[in-house]
Amino acid sequence: MVQREMVEEIKGWIYEASEVIKAKLAMPLEVAEKENRSDLVTNVDQEIEAFFIKKIRDNYPNDQILGEEGLGDQVTDFKNRVWVIDPIDGTLNFIKQQENFCTMLAVYEDGVGQLGFIYEIMTDELLWGSKELGVYLNEKEIIEVPNKPLEEGLININTSIFLNNHFGMQELAMEALAVRMLGCAGIAFKEVVKGHHQAYVSYLQPWDYAPAKVIFECLGLSLQTLNGESLDLTKKVPIIGSTPIVAEKITVK
Ligand code: IPD
Ligand code: CA
Ligand code: CA
Ligand code: CA
Repeated sequence: MVQREMVEEIKGWIYEASEVIKAKLAMPLEVAEKENRSDLVTNVDQEIEAFFIKKIRDNYPNDQILGEEGLGDQVTDFKNRVWVIDPIDGTLNFIKQQENFCTMLAVYEDGVGQLGFIYEIMTDELLWGSKELGVYLNEKEIIEVPNKPLEEGLININTSIFLNNHFGMQELAMEALAVRMLGCAGIAFKEVVKGHHQAYVSYLQPWDYAPAKVIFECLGLSLQTLNGESLDLTKKVPIIGSTPIVAEKITVK
């Protein structure tokens, strides 16, 4: 299937899922702890992952699916086509703020990013990228992102990395005009693509950065680890997504 048709199909699923999510926000959430008191999951995270998995299984029965909540496959390699799902990115914001969260989906073929979607539901802002069709923010095509240094802009850093000064990030932050902490990887990457932030730093799982990787590659933005490990979508890694000029300053440890 050509990418244009897949994009329209996936957009339809995302908008359908977003209506379910908005409706669920009017009802009490069922919240459970995963690994610690700030690592939460809700019934909505699980229901939305199941929703996307059904759509994919019905339409692409031979494909593998990697989903955060574990309802997909045990993906150990990225051979053939693999779908990556983060049903609600920013679950803590979803629970505490009912905003500043998004839903994310990516499609890879033989390890190469083909399609990436980041949808901020409450602002109705869909950032999507296709290796063949380019990058769009809703209907508007993004051709390039201004290659600005940190001195002229903002950096978004994960709370734990900033407080503990992992990888010397406090020193890097000093170069920026200010630090922001949004609590949602997808929105943070979207801010870099919009040119609002010049860099985003976090420890991320494959589903947190898979769509951004596609979009950043299309636009010539930089996405790299801070510890020299590869971005092979199999493990959690410390990541910086930034303009190329900021990337030149990063020392990998
Ligand atoms: C989390 C958010 C958060 C980031 C965490 C992620 P989740 O995703 O993107 O901003 O700092 O590392 O795990 O669990 O809400 O989908
Ligand atoms: Ca989570
Ligand atoms: Ca996430
Ligand atoms: Ca999630």
